[in-house]
Amino acid sequence: MNIRQLLDKKQRGEKIVMITAYGYPSGRLAEQAGADVVLVGDSLGNVMLGYESTTPVTIEDICHHTKPVARAVKNALLVADMPFGSYQINTDLALANAIFLIKECGAAAVKVEGGEETAPIIAALSKHGIPVMAHIGLLPQTAAMWHGYSCQGRDADSAMRLLKTARMLEEAGAFSVVLEFVTAETAAKISAALTIPTIGIGAGLNCDGQVLVFHDIVGLNENHMPRFAKQYGNAAAIILQALNDFAAEVKTGNYPDSEHSYFMDADEVKKLEKLLGE
Ligand code: KIV
Repeated sequence: MNIRQLLDKKQRGEKIVMITAYGYPSGRLAEQAGADVVLVGDSLGNVMLGYESTTPVTIEDICHHTKPVARAVKNALLVADMPFGSYQINTDLALANAIFLIKECGAAAVKVEGGEETAPIIAALSKHGIPVMAHIGLLPQTAAMWHGYSCQGRDADSAMRLLKTARMLEEAGAFSVVLEFVTAETAAKISAALTIPTIGIGAGLNCDGQVLVFHDIVGLNENHMPRFAKQYGNAAAIILQALNDFAAEVKTGNYPDSEHSYFMDADEVKKLEKLLGE
């Protein structure tokens, strides 16, 4: 999947599937599920590293998790998140960090979270050939410090502001834009107004694609989940059952049984016993 093919999907009215991944197994599974885009999101701070927000995530964390995903993902477009602090200071630092994610860590594109203030950063990266996905609406990197996690674009004025921002980021060179936790009406208007695809998360049905966090989809996230995060399976229950069964069999001496053990030939056993004087 490349940027052209993604834009073509929007033109054909085909929905884009984006799934987050943080390691080799989740990358493989996302790819097997036919994801068009795999995102190594800074949500790894919450679901992999146990932080309360995405704010502490570093560029090294993102790289560490992007490398195994890159080894797993052969067909989907691999996007790596630019974490908080990796692009705000100046465009040179943003450029250096984006190049690092692409050259050293295996990403094919990067994602930058923020409003109009990210337009010069997106423009600088795009000018140097780095595909950038924008991310507007709820901005988890800074939301907790301001207003918490609340739905954006609830009234006509804020919807207009979001639309203006989306247009500006498209003009700056973004190839796509994530709309997070935005009213369905606002997201629909933005999706209709832009040439580039919108990827919604908690932004209603009329986005050009949808993304959810891997752990939320499969039921591995036992923390609070927003209402928009639909859980499609209960992997935690399946894994816990398997771990409980293993622990129980170890304690009762039922594991390893003969099927899971390796044995010497009978005459070699006899020889060994002789050598040991038994
Ligand atoms: O970090 C992340 O996983 C994201 C998606 C939820 C869009 O930014």
